[in-house]
Amino acid sequence: MNMDPCELSPSYVRSIAPYQPGKPISELAREMGLDERTIVKLASNENPRGIGPRTRAAIEAALADVARYPDGNGFELKQALAKRYHVDMGSVVLGNGSNDVLELVALAFLGPGRAAVLSQHCFAVYPLATQARGARSIVVPAKRYGHDLEAMARAIDDETYVAWLANPNNPTGTFVRYEEIEAFLKRVPERVLVVLDEAYNEYLPPELRGDTVKLIKRHPNVVVTRTFSKAYGLAGLRVGYALAHPSVADVMNRVRQPFNVNSIALAAATAALDDMEFVARSYADNLQGLRRLEQGALALGLEFIPSYGNFITIRVGKAPEVYKKLLKRGVIVRPVGGGYGLPEHLRVTVGTAEENERFLNALGAALKE
Ligand SMILES: Cc1ncc(COP(=O)(O)O)c(C=O)c1O
Repeated sequence: MNMDPCELSPSYVRSIAPYQPGKPISELAREMGLDERTIVKLASNENPRGIGPRTRAAIEAALADVARYPDGNGFELKQALAKRYHVDMGSVVLGNGSNDVLELVALAFLGPGRAAVLSQHCFAVYPLATQARGARSIVVPAKRYGHDLEAMARAIDDETYVAWLANPNNPTGTFVRYEEIEAFLKRVPERVLVVLDEAYNEYLPPELRGDTVKLIKRHPNVVVTRTFSKAYGLAGLRVGYALAHPSVADVMNRVRQPFNVNSIALAAATAALDDMEFVARSYADNLQGLRRLEQGALALGLEFIPSYGNFITIRVGKAPEVYKKLLKRGVIVRPVGGGYGLPEHLRVTVGTAEENERFLNALGAALKE
């Protein structure tokens, strides 16, 4: 019998459409014969400030010990997070990026015969992680590009065990207020784990940053996830975390790989967490850049989705064509057609002032071409 090993994998795994990351700079340089230094990448919502000197020093110091395994419990980082957010260390789950933590939720709480509720245009990892566990996604139509929490609550059925909420959402940049989340929690059965993915939390204006961490004390079914990849500038090192009720955190930790966060990442994140000034500057620069991109889009006669993150999603019309024309000009942005259902939009990360101008000039030229 001729057996294709691929067919031995469950059909729900074989039908997964792989996640499409932003095009790496080195790849575009190779494809177009461009000098890497001339390429502007605004495709993965990274922090254009890089990292601060204290974080750099912590990374350099951690190099001395790379021959050893990391602390599998991430004691120092967990302790620092627990202190910052006034929770027990047992409430913290560390991940190889917050993406890892989202996967842990799926691994621990989903499976065949179970379902997760999520919004149209939501972060692509939610349907992927759900499908990879053989669970069903219940996709709820978006309201003005954002999460319609009332409809999401109504869509929960007897098989639903997880509700995925990105706040702000990627790629739309939409945001739901704290009061709406509280109202949602009142309507959701306690069996349903509500994941509040707050990867962009640090980019919210302070008056909108509700104390969602407090919610885990009143609602044991809430999991808050955050990351060091965005405002802290550590996307390449991969560190994120969840804050949850200790019994939820315990279950997630059981399915975690023993050393899922590496030693350099642990040291860097612990140092970065302390560097409040770096995060404050990242916030301020981002706001300025976001306003400039909004202004630039309007000047080109383009609509955009008002964003609360470090990116903006602009309606450019024939997005795949505009995307390619931007690539030719050495500017990488993110198409959001296929996986996200926004075929006329492009998502653009807020860059440095200079990168934002490069993008706007390239966009103007691409639209005229
Ligand atoms: C909404 C959202 N959640 C989670 C992540 C995962 O980020 P990371 O794994 O780098 O923490 C991203 C990354 O872009 C995101 O946009």
